[in-house]
Amino acid sequence: MYIGVDLGTSAVKLLLVDESGRILKTVTKEYPLRFPQPGWSEQDPADWWKAVQHGILQLTEHVDKSEIRGIGCGGQMHGLVALDENDAVIRPAILWNDGRTAEETEWLNTAVGREKLSKLTANIAFAGFTAPKLLWLKKHEPENFARIKKIMLPKDYINYRLTGVHACDYSDASGMLLLDVEHKCWSKEMLEICGVSEAQMPKLYESYEVIGTVRGFVSGALGLPRDCRVVAGAGDNAAAAVGTGVVGEGGCNISLGTSGTIFISSKKFGVDPNNALHAFAHADGGYHLMGCMLSAASCNKWFCEQILKTADYAAEQVDITPDRLGANRVFFLPYLMGERSPINDTDARACFIGMSMDTSRAELMQAVLEGVAFAIRDSFEVAKSLGVAPTQSMLCGGGAKSPLWRTILANVLNIRLDLPQTEEGPGYGGAMLAMVGSGAYDSVAACARELVHVRESVEPDPAIAARYEKAYQKFRKIYPAMKNLFQEVK
Ligand code: XUL
Repeated sequence: MYIGVDLGTSAVKLLLVDESGRILKTVTKEYPLRFPQPGWSEQDPADWWKAVQHGILQLTEHVDKSEIRGIGCGGQMHGLVALDENDAVIRPAILWNDGRTAEETEWLNTAVGREKLSKLTANIAFAGFTAPKLLWLKKHEPENFARIKKIMLPKDYINYRLTGVHACDYSDASGMLLLDVEHKCWSKEMLEICGVSEAQMPKLYESYEVIGTVRGFVSGALGLPRDCRVVAGAGDNAAAAVGTGVVGEGGCNISLGTSGTIFISSKKFGVDPNNALHAFAHADGGYHLMGCMLSAASCNKWFCEQILKTADYAAEQVDITPDRLGANRVFFLPYLMGERSPINDTDARACFIGMSMDTSRAELMQAVLEGVAFAIRDSFEVAKSLGVAPTQSMLCGGGAKSPLWRTILANVLNIRLDLPQTEEGPGYGGAMLAMVGSGAYDSVAACARELVHVRESVEPDPAIAARYEKAYQKFRKIYPAMKNLFQEVK
């Protein structure tokens, strides 16, 4: 058996999977997410570790633990975890959807320059990336910055707690803006620009490579065998792509999680000349292009829980009947945490537009689901302009559980969406990486061929897709009209 871990933003999800890919058990453990200031987003790494330990104990309580061969983790990307000389966490982790680094991001993109950044790392700076966070820490908390002995990403911290090894894989490291993605090594120049040394960086691995086995006292506390292997794992999007079988050339996976991503796999290294899409390494040993919107399923959660005060998401969707699709006069910009791809604007905010006296609750709900789909389409359009637009995509993440949202997305993108047998993309991908690392499969591609199967497909409907085409052309005019105003109302 193998344990797949998805270290997410709202919770950690753990899966126990056997070698044939059957999920034997899943456990979810939530932890707090803090917004100390508007646009800031932090978590305590101790909460992650506590949740992972409790999760593993619960996951394995009724099985023969000596049969557990490996652990693989997919984790929320970009978060800065800083450790001191005793490997103690220096301050709360600054997360991927934290927008405090607008100034540092701007400095990197202008003073260092987009062209140079792209040459060194295949990417430009986005507020959520790790390098601008280091610069922010250096300026605003110099005493904390001076204490840093090791820089880690969230899932690497879990791997460290399990094994005692400071490691990072190429897919996750790509999102730090410190990695020379093409050549898969730390960029000396970028490290220098950020004032850190290579000794402070974790050792790099392919996602399916074993970084170590569980430490003695962890094995004792969790009952895992001493020879249980831990693989380097991957950023959650790369892990999700593995979990949905999107490996090799030209596959596509869309994830409707807290963030919304469109992920296009490739065997060859390639960069978006405008850097609107990220150019990162993949967990299968190849590369990928990715657009990431910061608030996807979290828009649905926010609107239902915080505004409508309900946790019954499905009930809110009942009145959104097929005749209404593409016919909504209300639009929603989904920028609750600013936005990354493709507009790169930390000041952007969410808004409804087009309401009248007869606007219903269901129309607002529909606008939220559609706004997220339209924003994914924005990144899809960039992919189209690069000539890599897919004609089909896998779909995973919590949002994929809604049949209505799946239909909206398939029609907004006008492509077929395929759902894998499990929606647990990153956790399942993590378990698959552990299988490859333990020698159960020769390669990530071989493992995906064997284990990932399509459960259900959603085809676009020509009439609905045509209506959504018109609606999208309206949607795409809203942000440019609001852009300057966002600066004033912040
Ligand atoms: C990707 C990104 C998000 C997080 C979410 O660049 O920032 O998808 O990984 O966990």
